[in-house]
Amino acid sequence: MTSPALTDVRPRWVKDGALGAGRFRYGADYNPEQWPRDVWQEDMRLMREAGVNIVSLGIFSWALLEPRPGEWDFSWLDEVMDLLHENGIDVDLATATASPPPWLTRLHPEVLPQTADGTVLSPGARQHWRPTSPVFREYALRLTRAIAERYAGHPALVAWHISNELGCHNIYDYSDDAARAFRVWLQEHYGTLDALNDAWGTAFWSQHYGAWDEILPPRVAPTQRNPGQQLDFERFSSDAVRDHLRAEAAVLREVTPDVAYTTNFMVAQNVRDIDYATWVDDVDFVSNDHYLRPGELGRDDLSFWANLTGNLAGGRPWFLMEHATSAINWREVNPPKRAGELVRDALTHVGHGADAVCYFQWRQSRAGGERYHSGMVPHAGRDSRVFRDVVALGAELDALAAVTGSHREKARVAVLFDYESWWVSGRDSHPTEALQYDAEQLAWYRALLDLGIRADVLPLAASLDDYDVVIAPMLHVVTDEVRRRLEHVVRDGRHVVVSYFSGIVDGHDRVWLGGYPGALRDLLGVTVEEFVPLLPGQPVTLGSGSVATTWTERIVRLADGVDVLDTYADGDLAGAPAVTRRRAGAGSATYVSADIGRDGVAGVLRGLSVDIDALAADPLAADGRVEVLSRTNGAERFVFLANRTDESVLLQLDGDAMGSTETDADGTLALAPRAVAVVRQDAAVLAAAAADGIRSSSTARA
Ligand code: GAL
Repeated sequence: MTSPALTDVRPRWVKDGALGAGRFRYGADYNPEQWPRDVWQEDMRLMREAGVNIVSLGIFSWALLEPRPGEWDFSWLDEVMDLLHENGIDVDLATATASPPPWLTRLHPEVLPQTADGTVLSPGARQHWRPTSPVFREYALRLTRAIAERYAGHPALVAWHISNELGCHNIYDYSDDAARAFRVWLQEHYGTLDALNDAWGTAFWSQHYGAWDEILPPRVAPTQRNPGQQLDFERFSSDAVRDHLRAEAAVLREVTPDVAYTTNFMVAQNVRDIDYATWVDDVDFVSNDHYLRPGELGRDDLSFWANLTGNLAGGRPWFLMEHATSAINWREVNPPKRAGELVRDALTHVGHGADAVCYFQWRQSRAGGERYHSGMVPHAGRDSRVFRDVVALGAELDALAAVTGSHREKARVAVLFDYESWWVSGRDSHPTEALQYDAEQLAWYRALLDLGIRADVLPLAASLDDYDVVIAPMLHVVTDEVRRRLEHVVRDGRHVVVSYFSGIVDGHDRVWLGGYPGALRDLLGVTVEEFVPLLPGQPVTLGSGSVATTWTERIVRLADGVDVLDTYADGDLAGAPAVTRRRAGAGSATYVSADIGRDGVAGVLRGLSVDIDALAADPLAADGRVEVLSRTNGAERFVFLANRTDESVLLQLDGDAMGSTETDADGTLALAPRAVAVVRQDAAVLAAAAADGIRSSSTARA
C-alpha cells in the first residue's frame, strides 16, 4: 500500500493561501460542533475582536459528518464555513479522519491497533486505528474525497489539514496488518533475507530467518529483543504513518490541485517517534504543535523545538498550528502560564520563523477529556486575563505584519539533531538507562544561549556547508556518509564538537569495532576502551570543576596533535583525559567524554571561543539573559529579543522598534521580564557595519 511521493506534483510552497498573505495567520482549532448555534454567533464576534483570521475546522467531526456508513450530513459544516467566510475568517479544513466513528469499529474491529503485548486498543478515546489497515484506509479516503469535493470551491477554504498529529497515539501497531506491511517494507529495503539476517545480526540467539513470513513486529518477548529489528520497526512505523499522509494527500491533490495541504507535526519532546526530516517533502508547508514544559526549562525548550522546526522547513516560514494559551491537561501537574508567557511563547515561535500563530483550541471545552485544557476563550469567558492577552497578541501580530514572508537568518553554529540517534541511544540493554538524548541536546543548546551564541538546531541530513562550528551531542548512530560529512567540516578548516556515546553504531545498531567512539575515532583522535557509567549518587568531578553524574569513558589513546582540555579528577578514571581537542590545520575536533551538563559544556565552549570566532557572544544577548533571534527578507533584518529571565534587561538598540516595543529617544530599551522586543534593521547598513568589523550594532547595558 505504498503511495507515490508527491514532491514531483506539489504545485508550490504556499504563496498566497495559508501563509505569506502579508499578515500573520492567527487562530485556533475550532470545534463548533461542541456548542449550540447561539455560541457560534458569539464566537464570530470574539474572533473578530481578537483578530482571528484562520481556524482549523472539523478535525474530530467524522461521526457527525458520516453518521452512518456512506450517509453524509454536511449541513452544519456548510453553515459554519459560510459563517466564517461572512466574518472574514479563512479555513484550514480537516479531512476529519483522525478519529473514526463508533459504527466503523463496530463494523470493522480489525482496524483497531494492537500493542506490543497483544492488547487490542478499544474505541472511546481517539486515533484508534491501524496505520496499515487497508479497511481503515478505504473508509478514510472515502471521507477525504467527500469533503474535498464538497468544499473544493468554497471561498473560505485556504488549506487542507490532513488527519491530525498523525501517529500521536497509534504510531506503534503490532497487529497482523502491521506484520504484513513490515515484511513488505523489509523486502523493499533489504531485497534478500541474507542481507536482513546480516544487518540484524540474527546469528545471535538463534534468530536466523529462513522465510519472510517468519518475521514479526518486535512484540513482547521473554527478554531483550533484537536491536536491528527494533530500529527497522521504528523506521517502518514512521514511514507507515507517512504513507497514510501520502494517500490522503493524493486525493486532495487530485480534487483540489491548487489548495495547499499540511499535517501538524509534533516536533517536540513528548512524542519522539516520527522522523520528520523524512516528512517535510510530503507537505506543502510545515506546521507544528508545541506545548510548553512547565518550570524553569520551558522557555528554552520551546526555543529548541521551534528552532528545529524552522530548520526542518529549510528556513522558510512555517505554521504554528497548535500551542496553548495557558494550562494544558495531560501532564501530572498543569499550571497556567505566567503573566507575559502567552505573548512571549508566540513571539519566540515567530522569531524562529513561524508566520502563523494558532492554538488548541478556540473555546475551552465544557465536556470531554480536554475540558481543563485552556483555549483562546476560557471557561471564564471574554472578561478574563487569557482573552485580554489573546486580543493583545492579535494586535501585536498585526503590527508586526512586515515580518511575514521573511526567512530565519542562518547562524554560524549548528547543533545536529538526529531522530535515529534519539531512538537508538535510549534502547534497552545498554550500559545505563540513565542517558537522555533530548536532555543532552538541550544542555548544549542552553549553554549556547547562556553564552549569547545563536545556533541552528539542524536535522542531520541538512547541509553543513555554512557552519563554522558543528556540535554533535550524543550522535550515536553514525553511517560512513555522516562520518565523511563531519570529517569534511574539519578538513575544510572548520570545527566539530562531539559529546559522549557518539559514533558508536552503524545504521543497523551494530557496534563499530576497534574502540569507541567507533566511526568518529579518527576524526576525534581518541580511542575509548570502556564506557564507565556512573551509579546513582556517585558523581565524578573533572579538573575544571565540572561534574559528570551518569556517564564517563576510559580514553586509552590519543592520536598525535590531540590536546587534553580537561581530565577526570576523581573516581577510577582519575588522571585520564575527559575532554580533548584535535587540531587539524585551521580546523579542530573536540570530544567531551562525560555528561557534564549545561554548565560543564558552557565551560568547554567558552574555552574554545578563544580561537573560534563563531563562539563569541552577541552583545545583544546581554550575557545570556536575552535570546537573539533573527529573520530577514534580504532588505531588512527583524531582530527578536526574548528576555529569558524574570528581571528587566536594559538594552541599547539600533534600528526601528516594531509593534509594542518602545525605546527611549536614545535607543534604550528596558526589556520587561519574559517579554520579547522586535526591532527592524536595514540589511545594507548592517552589511556595511560588518564590513567595518563591527560585530553587532547594538549592545546590552550593564
Ligand atoms: C494535541 C492535539 C489536540 C489536542 C491537544 C491538547 O496533541 O492535536 O487535538 O488534543 O494536543 O494539548
